[in-house]
Amino acid sequence: MSQSGPAPGAALLTGGGGRLGRELRLLLPHLVAPTRAELDVTDDASVARGFARLRPRLVVHCAAYTDVAGAEREREACWRVNVEGTRRLVAAARVAGARFLHVSTDYVFYGDRGGYREDDTPGPTRNYYALTKLVAEEAARGYDRALVVRTSFRPREWPYPKAFDDLFTSQDYVDVIAPLLAEVIERFAAGAVPYDTLHVATERKSVLELARRRAPDVQRASKREAGVALPDDVSLDVSRWRRLREAWSGGAAAAHEDDGVAADDRPPAPGERGS
Ligand SMILES: NC(=O)c1ccc[n+]([C@@H]2O[C@H](COP(=O)([O-])OP(=O)(O)OC[C@H]3O[C@@H](n4cnc5c(N)ncnc54)[C@H](OP(=O)(O)O)[C@@H]3O)[C@@H](O)[C@H]2O)c1
Repeated sequence: MSQSGPAPGAALLTGGGGRLGRELRLLLPHLVAPTRAELDVTDDASVARGFARLRPRLVVHCAAYTDVAGAEREREACWRVNVEGTRRLVAAARVAGARFLHVSTDYVFYGDRGGYREDDTPGPTRNYYALTKLVAEEAARGYDRALVVRTSFRPREWPYPKAFDDLFTSQDYVDVIAPLLAEVIERFAAGAVPYDTLHVATERKSVLELARRRAPDVQRASKREAGVALPDDVSLDVSRWRRLREAWSGGAAAAHEDDGVAADDRPPAPGERGS
């Protein structure tokens, strides 16, 4: 945070030093991104000080314990950040009257069939990290000015020599996903997202296909080689978000035409809020 401090009504980003947070800061430089030392989501006093100083009108919550394997060994640490930290921030946002955008994951679904819609029943989760993210979602969703965005991303470069051809996903590289999220953040800040949950991702593909887009020599592998239980297909249905984008770009009429989607998943009228 700068010496003089930002103007009241900041757009606050937690986890701004993380993989996604760094990309969002490049795209949305007005986001104020305190470090963990400046705003520790596990610490009441730290959160209270941060909110008193920034008086945020918007909170974009990217901070999380994200080490999936580590979470199995450090369950308490993971719970404190992902669940208790989210609860603490939601409570502070509620007092401040700030909108709250919570970044969540496709891992809240079991991942056996793919094509998950926002209103599909989540779980059972495959690991402890996913469990905490699911509980955190509910903490966020209990606040009527919150939006839960489920997404998934990889680092800019594919880091492995192999990739699975039997695991399907709608994730993408972080520099592809971040601009999509930046648009959602801006629209949400303006009150133009009439839902409490939104899936933001790209099309369904195998992990191998995704890897070869940036590393053409990556070799084929099977998730059976991973040594841990992995889902078959965690792809997300993103049609709600696609229709919203059409509406945002002025194509509201087109967004309401018969597109094979249930009528109850069309953007609600202004003032309404869909789940
Ligand atoms: N990576 C994925 O594949 C993926 C997929 C779907 C959803 N997500 C979600 O997307 C969000 C961002 O993920 P990411 O991959 O960018 O995470 P990341 O690179 O692991 O960064 C996590 C950020 O959270 C901060 N943080 C951790 N504990 C904190 C605390 N107690 N107080 C304040 N800040 C704390 C970290 O601070 P330090 O810099 O100090 O460590 C770091 O800036 C998370 O909510 C994650 O669950 C990630």
